[in-house]
Amino acid sequence: MSGVKTVASLPPPLKWAGGKRWLVPHLRVLFEPHRHRRLVEPFAGGLAVTLGLLPERALLNDINPHLINFYQWLKRGLQIHIPLENSRETYYKHRETFNKLIREGQAFSQEAAALFYYLNRTGYNGLCRFNAKGEFNVPFGKYKNIPYQRDFTAYKSILRGWDFVCMDFEEISLEPEDFVYADPPYDVEFTAYAPGGFSWEDQVRLVRWLQRHPGPVVVSNQATARILSLYQEHGFAIRLLQAPRRIACNGDRTPAQEVLAFRNLTLFPKSQPAQALRLGAGREPRARGEVFGFNIDSTFEV
Ligand SMILES: C[S@@+](CC[C@H](N)C(=O)[O-])C[C@H]1O[C@@H](n2cnc3c(N)ncnc32)[C@H](O)[C@@H]1O
Repeated sequence: MSGVKTVASLPPPLKWAGGKRWLVPHLRVLFEPHRHRRLVEPFAGGLAVTLGLLPERALLNDINPHLINFYQWLKRGLQIHIPLENSRETYYKHRETFNKLIREGQAFSQEAAALFYYLNRTGYNGLCRFNAKGEFNVPFGKYKNIPYQRDFTAYKSILRGWDFVCMDFEEISLEPEDFVYADPPYDVEFTAYAPGGFSWEDQVRLVRWLQRHPGPVVVSNQATARILSLYQEHGFAIRLLQAPRRIACNGDRTPAQEVLAFRNLTLFPKSQPAQALRLGAGREPRARGEVFGFNIDSTFEV
């Protein structure tokens, strides 16, 4: 168990669409034998996975500069001094101050990080949306109680070995030994709308970029037919998982299918029998799916 971080984890500090906290037990089984490697997340989002896996070293990227600015201040032990109130009046006042900082070239200040946190926790559904002029334009949210936090010094020691960068995923310089976990915006078939501006061409660009990496790679995405074909055509192994139930706008409660695609990962290494990958102390894995940390009933190979 050498190299395992003993510190207790902390919850993701922001609300972020597409959080994969529920995938952490599945990813932990895959990452554990590679814990000595640097974890690279090209689409770090709300940090749900990294805070779940707690790697010693990580390179965390996202194309959203305000998100990355917040994490860079979090790493320095952010303390928030602005008023944190769940009121419409305070919300629009803080939103205007945040937009003023952007206009005046102060978007990477500590004050901007504090305001970003407040707007994220107080605004509608934790959305992060900007208008054509580059102004944050999310309306006031509908939360009854918000557990605001002012002191983030506890994150400082956890984030010590983690670097944060902000660029398109393809510009990241990977080291051959890196363990890459990629969680891009979902592919949504049969619609012209690309969530987060991530088009089908971007999905193809991503698989080609990942295919060139000589180290271990895991990708999660919505299990659409074209995503399954794309990853299979590029030599990835595929596992399907049942994602937690989501309620769509039309009330549809059909559970979504999630795909995990892998490369350069030996799931049953010869030198390490399956039984060695224990899920809990004194508990033997009963079935093949469980060895991977998957529920055997909801997982199948394609
Ligand atoms: C599904 S979310 C990741 C969620 C994260 N795994 C979690 O558990 O919180 C996808 C992220 O990709 C980012 N993104 C979108 N296009 C990108 C690009 N071209 N390069 C890097 N990041 C991008 C978005 O800003 C968003 O935060």
